[in-house]
Amino acid sequence: MATYITTPIYYVNAMPHLGHAYTTLVADVYSRFRHLCGGEVYFQTGTDEHGEKIAEAADKAGESPRQYVDRIAAAFAAAWPLLAIRPDRIIRTTDPEHIRTVQDILQMVYDRGDIYFSEYTGLYCAGCERFLTAKELVDGKCPDHQVAPREISEQNYFFRMSAYQEWLIDHIRANPEFITPERYRNEVLSFLSEPLEDLCISRPTTRLTWGIPLPFDQNFVTYVWFDALINYLTGIGYPDGPDFEKYWPAAEHVIAKDILKPHAIYWPTMLRAIGLAPYRRLHVHGYWNVDATKMSKSLGNVVRPGELAAEYGVDTVRYFLLREMSFGLDSSFSSETIINRYNSDLANDLGNLFSRSLTMIGKYAAGSMPKRASAAVFTPEDHGLMSALSAMGSQYCEDMANFRFHKALQVLWEAISLLNRYIVVNAPWELAKNERQAERLKTVLSLLAESLWKITLALKPVMPETAAKMARALGMEAAFAGASIDEMLSWGGIPAGTTIHKGTQLFPRLERQEAGTPAADAKAESRAAQGKSGGRDGDKDSRKDAENVLDAALISLEQFKTVDLRVAEIVAAEKVNRSDRLLKLTVRAPEERTIVAGIARHYAPEDLPGRQVLIVANLKPAKLMGIASQGMLLAAKEQPPDGPERLVLTTVSGPVAPGSRVA
Ligand code: MSP
Repeated sequence: MATYITTPIYYVNAMPHLGHAYTTLVADVYSRFRHLCGGEVYFQTGTDEHGEKIAEAADKAGESPRQYVDRIAAAFAAAWPLLAIRPDRIIRTTDPEHIRTVQDILQMVYDRGDIYFSEYTGLYCAGCERFLTAKELVDGKCPDHQVAPREISEQNYFFRMSAYQEWLIDHIRANPEFITPERYRNEVLSFLSEPLEDLCISRPTTRLTWGIPLPFDQNFVTYVWFDALINYLTGIGYPDGPDFEKYWPAAEHVIAKDILKPHAIYWPTMLRAIGLAPYRRLHVHGYWNVDATKMSKSLGNVVRPGELAAEYGVDTVRYFLLREMSFGLDSSFSSETIINRYNSDLANDLGNLFSRSLTMIGKYAAGSMPKRASAAVFTPEDHGLMSALSAMGSQYCEDMANFRFHKALQVLWEAISLLNRYIVVNAPWELAKNERQAERLKTVLSLLAESLWKITLALKPVMPETAAKMARALGMEAAFAGASIDEMLSWGGIPAGTTIHKGTQLFPRLERQEAGTPAADAKAESRAAQGKSGGRDGDKDSRKDAENVLDAALISLEQFKTVDLRVAEIVAAEKVNRSDRLLKLTVRAPEERTIVAGIARHYAPEDLPGRQVLIVANLKPAKLMGIASQGMLLAAKEQPPDGPERLVLTTVSGPVAPGSRVA
């Protein structure tokens, strides 16, 4: 099946920022995913260049509208390669071909009687470029632009949108996938439960000339949405271009929630009036905020795609944006969250798994893909790994196909953890010590390599550069370009004997860390020891050394998660006979348990009941002075230079239910 994926065409009154980048990235990832599935794909983005606010912005910039739109449209086109976004077409509403298409459609709909002339008084929001209903206002203002709309009364042309209201409701009800996620479908249905007004589609040339002249009345230009939405048809050669039949009605539009109504209501009713089938799906996402605040020029917190890519690397930004935002909900961007994701998901989980596995294949199989034994001798772990990875492959495909990108990546990272566990359980370094385990070792290493190939393919749409690096290291460079998703779902992809290269470091640790974190302190120490000031341009060897120190000191998230940290409430405390160091505590976490703690020199037993403390709940029980201790209390140990050691119990900053996990 062919796929036609589009983004909104962006207004050229602002430079491209994180929000535009996200939508366009989503379309790019989906396009690459569909390519991987073997279908024909057409991916279109573009710029919306007519209308009042563009004319005003040009005026402000002291340029003619034409000069101005050319300059900003070029900035949008130049932004996409910075994030490895590869549209098939970048359309502009000032393209002569588009102007012709809009005029042809206007004439046709006019001739059919669905455009009429009338007087109208309404509340117009220049930011939205549309009339708002009184119900849409919050405290008398447009909720998106925070300005009171202007009351405008003038004669204009209208599209008879109301005539299609019942049809649209039926269509949305009959096609649950038409608008997704579901919350937006419900929002549209709720809006449609009230009578729909007709849509004003023109502006008198006395007020605005920067638009497309109506073919049936030269005193008017078309109103922005009737111009802009039609880009989706122009781009694929409506009405009779060779691609039109292939890609319509396969169209899938990606937008944010700000332009839901034009896409979910105006556009399908316009298509109906034109005599075309509705698009296939509308995918609606939430807003990106920055540090939990709205992105805005006046706040000076606008994030630019090029700066992001330069700071963190293209693939990191791509991964982060898709992983962090639950498609449909708002998300907040901050440097901390991107650095954390980089260090934990990319450097630690994926990067370590990859380099560790390839190093073992280098060491124990001379860098050549081992021939694995027949399935008859597979262990339960092998079968478990294979069926889990196959199930994850199918889940990944389903999530990607349905715009649940964060979930698809979650599933992939579960596979990565599974592989890390598979390594620990099968301990290839132990197998390598025993001649009789040679066959077993080959099977383990080959299953690992094959699993990494599947992960490479799954990452291809999201992190194309990283996936290409992984494919090269796995000796699968030639197969990579034309590889299909089927290889992710079947086994036996890497032929035995393929050369596998070790030494590929996918994600060098990011230099910037918050001061005071163990990693930052370890780095600072390591640099100080070498008399270096650090920074990105520092000497490579010393940086490597510092990284080695860090890597040795770091644990993976998986390792950390094995520790069951909990809040416990002390219900009783007493001295332990014949010990001046130990107290026997009864705690609730939430079940009652006994913990023997070495705090008698620091706390009196009567001061403890009622306190909430942090404990390690899954420590193997140990007997102390004949008492079984089930867990360990956590305390800070202070050693002043000239005084006795102090122990201070840890706690939470407010009361919580005993037994709550600390993570
Ligand atoms: N020109 C119209 C769209 C016409 S489509 C036929 C328009 N342009 S816009 O420049 O305002 O772009 C709006 C779109 O930009 C949103 O729908 C979304 O795709 C993207 N984003 C702009 N700011 C955003 C965030 N802060 N967060 C996420 N996406 C946002 O409306």
